[in-house]
Amino acid sequence: MAEELGVWIVGARGAVSTCVISGARAVARGLAPTTGLVTEVSDFKPLGLVDLQRLVFGGHELRSEVTLSGAAHELRDGPGLLPPKLVAALEDDYAEIDKDIRPATAIGCGSTIRKMTGCSPLEDTLTPALLVEQLASDIADFRRRHELRRVVVVNLASTEPYHERLPACYESPKALRKALRNGGEGITAGVLYACAALSSGCAYVNFTPSLGAEVPALLELAREKGLPHCGKDGKTGETLMKTVLAPMFVARNMKVMSWEGYNMLGNRDGAVLDDPVNNAAKTKGKDKALREILGDNAELHTRVRIDYCPSLDDWKTAWDFVHFQGFLGTKMIMQFIWQGCDSMLAAPLVLDLIRLTDYAWRCGETGVMKHTACFFKDPLEGETHDFWRQWDALKAYAHSHAAVSPHRHRSTEKGKRV
Ligand code: NAI
Repeated sequence: MAEELGVWIVGARGAVSTCVISGARAVARGLAPTTGLVTEVSDFKPLGLVDLQRLVFGGHELRSEVTLSGAAHELRDGPGLLPPKLVAALEDDYAEIDKDIRPATAIGCGSTIRKMTGCSPLEDTLTPALLVEQLASDIADFRRRHELRRVVVVNLASTEPYHERLPACYESPKALRKALRNGGEGITAGVLYACAALSSGCAYVNFTPSLGAEVPALLELAREKGLPHCGKDGKTGETLMKTVLAPMFVARNMKVMSWEGYNMLGNRDGAVLDDPVNNAAKTKGKDKALREILGDNAELHTRVRIDYCPSLDDWKTAWDFVHFQGFLGTKMIMQFIWQGCDSMLAAPLVLDLIRLTDYAWRCGETGVMKHTACFFKDPLEGETHDFWRQWDALKAYAHSHAAVSPHRHRSTEKGKRV
């Protein structure tokens, strides 16, 4: 019989997570189609990716006042994302999965996240080292209870405050070990989750802009443990559009003078991003993509703004204004308005990443999964932000692996770099 795959979500009762869990269960039960799942297109069929019905969910979450079912009700009754019939059909699943959701840590997450979620009971008594131990032990218990060989840990927690410079404690394994023992400036929950995941032998996906497995101290740990990982910050809406359209201006040799992007969103993610320290983490990643494609010249003016607009809830609205020059210096304008449902754009991509991470792991591939760059705003070791080149790279990966069954790959020991 096919094996089950553990999926441990950090931020397990958040909007994206609730849509991931609801979507996986709905597809598995034949209650919903697979529209939006990239890994369902024909290029990926020969790979034998894990079936969604084989996913077993658990996770960490700061909010204890709401259950997973309660989170689904919020999405049903507020922005109207989850159809009432679907939520009713999944109540038993929500209750079962809720038993595997454990208290979390908010260390280094800033005051906005703490205020919104209530303080975690964990860090009041624990040093960072003990926190990592506790987080890893929660994952190990989950693995044991469900008899899982493999668990993929996915970070879907709120965006942490931005660090202009990498905190010194993440610069090397030695510095991290010291900071874990003694506490240290710059210690953040995101890195502790990634550390707990890798040290307990789990592959890792960072869908958020927060720091995770890409810090030098953990890159080495992932390699040592022979684990694949990818990130960061899912590319779902406005940035997806930018990285699809910007290559067109380059291909037609047109000169973009200004690209101004204005985003409004009203969900909890939007409320967290309303705090400038959390907001910076998001806007930096969004701006970087455009500058890499168009060339980082001094004449190019770009700006990304994200504002909180509570009444929009999950229906993010982005307006982009592009001022460009064509032949004989003629000035022209392109504008677009994107009205996307944020969590529903994100959820299928998270499921794709879980399947691709599991596959890479079974193939014995270690380290950063460069082929997943098209899923991220700020891809780790990404060679380009150009969506089309990223998409070609993902398809090339799928085609080159298509001829070999994952079972053959499974016998490969660690060491092959992705
Ligand atoms: P959300 O606010 O609905 O969910 C986040 C959940 O994480 C909340 O339930 C919160 O209580 C929990 N949480 C916060 N800090 C935590 C911690 N330290 N440990 C454990 N749990 C913690 O936000 P949403 O919309 O689900 O987004 C989740 C993440 O995904 C955010 O970082 C967001 O920026 C990122 N993201 C979302 C995209 C989208 O929705 N289209 C696109 C790209 C990234």
